[in-house]
Amino acid sequence: MTTGVDRHLVLIGLMGAGKTTVGAACAAHLGRPLVDTDELVEATTGQTISEIFAGAGERAFRDLERRAVAGACASPEPLVIACGGGAVLDPENRRAIRAAGLVVWLRATSPVLAARVRDTAGTRPLLATQDPEEELERLAEARRATYESAAHVSVDTDARDVEEVVDAILEELERCGV
Ligand code: S3P
Repeated sequence: MTTGVDRHLVLIGLMGAGKTTVGAACAAHLGRPLVDTDELVEATTGQTISEIFAGAGERAFRDLERRAVAGACASPEPLVIACGGGAVLDPENRRAIRAAGLVVWLRATSPVLAARVRDTAGTRPLLATQDPEEELERLAEARRATYESAAHVSVDTDARDVEEVVDAILEELERCGV
């Protein structure tokens, strides 16, 4: 990871893992822009994620997400990239992010994830269910191996505040020379 665009910091993980919050703090520390793929999709379409899911459907959202991931990865400027939680499901996205820099999987248990998304669950169509925690548990189970294969390193966030998570990530960046 030394040449070309091989230098982004890419954050992956389930909804509520802290990708956007931690990403913003990392970006501030590193003096780099933060690109959030969900925000990129919303800016490009002029629609919220929920509106896209409800109108065009999840498949259309995943196509838009793939373009957002590719666009962010192609940036010549080193970025912090916060990927939507399901972006790693696409093999093309996995290839792109792993080739583009250090991929960090932010981990947390389902009760912690559920508590973090409680106030914003309405903005996440996949959590529009009776029991968001149960759905997060199901997604964690279904996606665990995919996050594991997409990530270079993982950072536990359950018992850490944002600054502690950022410190752990910055240590990894230093260790990997990104
Ligand atoms: C999704 C996660 C969301 C958003 C969409 C689908 C997922 O992003 O991309 O609602 O499949 O896990 P966040 O992880 O930023 O909430």
